[in-house]
Parts: sequence; C-alpha cells; structure tokens
Amino acid sequence: MRPEPDRKREGPGDGGDLYCSCPVSVLIFYFFKSGTFMRAHWRQWQAFRWALVTCAVLCLGVSIYYADLLKAAFARNPVPRTAESIGRGRLLFQQQCAICHGERGLGDGPVAASLRDKPEDLSKIARPPIFPDGIVIYRIANGKKLMPAFKTTLSESQLWDLLNFIRSLRRS
Ligand code: HEC
Repeated sequence: MRPEPDRKREGPGDGGDLYCSCPVSVLIFYFFKSGTFMRAHWRQWQAFRWALVTCAVLCLGVSIYYADLLKAAFARNPVPRTAESIGRGRLLFQQQCAICHGERGLGDGPVAASLRDKPEDLSKIARPPIFPDGIVIYRIANGKKLMPAFKTTLSESQLWDLLNFIRSLRRS
C-alpha cells in the first residue's frame, strides 16, 4: 500500500478509521464464531468447502489457459509515445495494415469491403483500462479470425510503435 500523506493531515473525525475498523471487527467476530459454526454445521461446511475447491480449480484452469492474455493485460509500453515513434508506427501501418484498416484506421481499406468480418474503427478502440495497451499488442501479434498474426513479421518495438500510432488516432 502506498502511504497516504493527505489522509493524516485531515486529522481526527474524517471517518477513515471508522471505515476501517468496522469491517475488521466484523471479520474478527466471525473468525471466532466460525469454530462453533463449523462444528454445528459440519456437513454444509464440507459441501461448501468442495464448492470452494472446485471454484478455485476452475479459476486456476482459466488463468492458465488465458495466461498469455492475462500477462499481456499488464504489459507496460516500453516505447515512449513520441512523435518519432508515432511516425514509425504510421509508416508501418500504411505498409502492413492500411490495406484492411484504411490509412487512418477507420476500417475502410481497399479490401475491407470483401472481408466477412469488418475490422473495427481503430480510432474508437477504448483506452486502458478497458482495452489495455498490452491486449491491443497481443491482438496484433497473434491475430484474431481474419486479422493476421504479425509476431513473426514485426519486432517487439515495431508493435509498440504501431500501438502508439493507433492510440494517436483517437479524436476525443
Ligand atoms: C487482412 C486484413 C487485415 C490486416 C492486413 C490487418 N488487420 Fe487488423 N483486423 C482485421 C480484422 C478483420 C479485424 C477484426 C477481427 C475480429 O474481431 O474479428 C482486425 C482487428 C484489429 C484490431 C482490434 C482487435 C480487437 O479485438 O478489437 C487491431 C488493434 C488491429 N486489427 C490492428 C492491426 C494492425 C496494427 C495491423 C497491421 C500490422 C493490422 N491490424 C492488419 C483485419 C486486418
């Protein structure tokens, strides 16, 4: 946890301690109560425990299956969003992507009309945290249905240049 210097300066009566201590005391109460509760309701507790274990195993399975995607969501952009990077991204985009996505990423490239699933307007894709940078990169690297994968054609830094260009398309 990061220290919160501002909270301290507010002095007593800001309610912060109260907010904290209420749930904590409720938790402590139930922690001590649960011993008796578990003995009295052992069967239910056991069923609940199995439900909990199943749930945990499922969660683990899903996170292993989507490990790459989950990891991608937390990737940080190592390439600063400078004019140079955006310029390199624009050039790459014109060479590799514009044929489907259009020069400005609107989804109006020359072959877009013949595609079964149209590429979306890249100037409208959501900002992080809704659509994290790492997931956009993951899509470009691994493709999706009609969208080809570029991880063998483009280097890591080229992918991030493309991301910087795509983020610059947004008109807010
Ligand atoms: C063959 C045509 C084609 C080319 C070339 C292409 N794309 Fe796509 N792209 C698509 C289509 C079609 C989709 C929509 C995929 C879907 O969701 O079904 C898409 C989706 C995307 C998405 C959004 C993914 C999402 O989940 O919303 C991004 C970002 C993207 N492309 C970036 C690029 C970049 C960058 C390049 C160039 C390096 C590129 N694309 C080249 C066709 C193409």
